[in-house]
Amino acid sequence: MQWTILGAGAIGSLFATHLLRTGQDVNLLDTRCARQHASHPMMLELLDGSFCMCELPCISHQAVSDLTLLLVTTKVWQVIPALEALVGKLPHSCPIVLLHNGMGPEEWLLTHFPQNPLLTGVTSCGAFKKDPHHIKHTGLGETWLGALNEAGTHYQSLIPPLANALGHAAWSDQIRERQWRKLVVNAIINPLTALYNQPNGMLSEHQAEVNALCEELHPLLIAESFTEPVTAWCEVIFKVAEQTAQNYSSMQQDLAHQRKTEIDYITGYLLQQAEKIGIKLPLHQDLYLKIKKLESTFTT
Ligand code: PAF
Repeated sequence: MQWTILGAGAIGSLFATHLLRTGQDVNLLDTRCARQHASHPMMLELLDGSFCMCELPCISHQAVSDLTLLLVTTKVWQVIPALEALVGKLPHSCPIVLLHNGMGPEEWLLTHFPQNPLLTGVTSCGAFKKDPHHIKHTGLGETWLGALNEAGTHYQSLIPPLANALGHAAWSDQIRERQWRKLVVNAIINPLTALYNQPNGMLSEHQAEVNALCEELHPLLIAESFTEPVTAWCEVIFKVAEQTAQNYSSMQQDLAHQRKTEIDYITGYLLQQAEKIGIKLPLHQDLYLKIKKLESTFTT
């Protein structure tokens, strides 16, 4: 099995280098970022402070017809444009695994690659790309994969090499539920830390705001068949914020570097789901509009 990784950002680079150093056959699908790695090896800084140099070959779009496994680790808003270029070219036998923040591209994938084995995942691994050639592993996390279609269910064999590479990986038959849980965490921590321009630990000083956002979301979560009380959701948010207190969230970093954020697939996705069943989320909508306004100052 050869792993082809599309999207060499922090998570893509972390997965690629860890898989490579544990003996897997890994390459990067040609993008501007991937080409930088082909010309210069990537340095992986491990959790114990040691380093490992990784040569990651870069393969061209012409080689797409030979792919055996595609792991997509782009920003969520890049998933559809990146995969659109592969429609009709990727062999039907090639599994596609999505790994991104937020939700939304799954439905598009099911329609456009109906014959491929399709999977999605969530990860809480921490990684920071110090520069284009230096990836720092900042926190051990959990990685869960699950199937999006029947063909995807036959790929539980991806778990042992991932677990060996990352320290933890497991299969989930409830991957949509895990995605939703991560979505809720991201929908509260990411826009708040981005707007206050502070690390995740700042949430402990904004308890009333976090509680109100959780409370507003609760009817939608009940409609999605989650049974826990609002207090349980608040506890999870504060726990993640505490465990990652020194970290800047991905949305804070995107705004700070004047990059497009993932808000459309995080809060935007929640707003769409709520609208479908007639639930209003004015506080979340307000966060959404504030982030979009900031984003518009550099994306248009
Ligand atoms: O997007 C992020 O930054 C992370 O998912 C999280 C959990 C909010 C921690 O920073």
